[in-house]
Amino acid sequence: MNKVKYLTAPIFYANSTPHIGHLYTGLVCDLWKQINLVMGEDFFLSSGMDEHGQKVFQVAVNNGLNPKVHVDNISESFKKFFEKYNVRYDYWVRTTDEQHKKATQIFWNKLKENGYVYKHRYKGWYSISDESYLDVSEDYVSTSKNIVWREEECYYFKLSSFQEKLVEYYEKHPETIYPKIRYNEAMGFIKQGLKDFSISRPKERLSWGIEVPDDPDQVMYVWIDALANYLTLIGYPDQKYLNYWPATHVVGKDILKFHAIYWPALLMAADLLPPKKVVVHGWWLNGDQKVSKSLNNAIDIDGLTEVYGSDAIRYFLLSNMTLGEDANFKESLFHSTINAALSNKYGNILLRLLGIAENKNIKELKHCELDEFLNNVVNNTKNEANNFVKNISFFDQYIRSFSAAFDSLNNYISENTIWKQEGEQLNNSLYSLLYCFKVLSVLFSPILPECAKKIAKYFDVDLNFKDVSVHKNIIIKEPIVLFPRVME
Ligand code: MSP
Repeated sequence: MNKVKYLTAPIFYANSTPHIGHLYTGLVCDLWKQINLVMGEDFFLSSGMDEHGQKVFQVAVNNGLNPKVHVDNISESFKKFFEKYNVRYDYWVRTTDEQHKKATQIFWNKLKENGYVYKHRYKGWYSISDESYLDVSEDYVSTSKNIVWREEECYYFKLSSFQEKLVEYYEKHPETIYPKIRYNEAMGFIKQGLKDFSISRPKERLSWGIEVPDDPDQVMYVWIDALANYLTLIGYPDQKYLNYWPATHVVGKDILKFHAIYWPALLMAADLLPPKKVVVHGWWLNGDQKVSKSLNNAIDIDGLTEVYGSDAIRYFLLSNMTLGEDANFKESLFHSTINAALSNKYGNILLRLLGIAENKNIKELKHCELDEFLNNVVNNTKNEANNFVKNISFFDQYIRSFSAAFDSLNNYISENTIWKQEGEQLNNSLYSLLYCFKVLSVLFSPILPECAKKIAKYFDVDLNFKDVSVHKNIIIKEPIVLFPRVME
């Protein structure tokens, strides 16, 4: 059987409604999956909900809801949100699914059988907001909120046994963590020394979680439960999971440690391969602060979406953040970006070309060969797409090539003054430019899927490079307005 290329988005905490930070994580995954599809390959993309733990439980209680009813509601709101912005996953996992719970217990048993789990009495500080035990000073405690003293029994994972194995693995496979700055960060953390960490909580304190096998007084630490989703949704422990494993994970920089250190160590402890790749992106900021539920600083994109459509939001988020770095969401920048790239360039080229055809009363354009310049525009963009399919490091270059490609079409129109042409010369120019426009629209359909659907319908093609690149006559129909002009 052919190996399935497996890509995962993080699973989202069911304590918050979705915002642009969550959307960006989803868009990075969607973009990579869709460019694969356009070029004739595929990724199996998963996402879903992280539904256990104190924080989720507390939000449900505060809203007067049964926790299951609460997580059902939040899961639906995330699914609707992703649908609105065309984040197209193949599987939506929920950590309250029975199958996930059972498979996670089997994973736990494997860690235990292999000798990496032990019981220990913890005495020390505990952060309620992070749901974790802390190794901190009295000073820190006195100045921080939500920290309490705890003395309790729980299970520990022998992370310390994996320090050398992780260093060895990452030195051999430096490409595993992208970008390099996050590789260095993870390596630095590992080399400082890894301590065992607690992987369960007493049930009397927190019942909203997966029970530890053979110990009904303990529930699993929410991160063990959450990380295991990547395995349980592909059928683990049934052997079919091997057809997908190892996975490529896309995550934000806040959860690097969990994915680049804890998770590979847990996998090694369970005799499984570490992740194939961990792609780490930065944060969307509002002012200087990370957009987040707890800071209550989410940016309202509903109004912008209503006026300009979901493609405009996708374009802005994808083109205004370099993969791996942080970026600031500014509404004025949104307006100028959409005007320059989408309304005045992309959308306007189509209107110009169809306008010329209408003025000259042309009903059908006969197919012809492209001249060298336009042929190069198509080939260069196709190469960008192929590079991106092969390697995530071409992510930004592919997105940037959007503007460059449509600038070339605009230049061609102006330099050849095609509105002055007539007869066969005009047929060939208009045909070639519209041919390029439809091929480029399909090559960039991962960024602008709603526009691409309209273009595919207009030209009667499928949304893949093979189909759209076939030469055939073009029937001229009513012009399509792809983007309204934005008030700056
Ligand atoms: N539940 C954990 C992930 C478990 S995966 C086994 C979690 N959930 S989250 O809802 O807080 O975050 C989900 C994703 O959204 C993470 O990749 C996180 O980095 C991303 N973002 C949340 N806020 C963000 C920004 N402001 N900017 C960009 N992405 C950020 O972590």
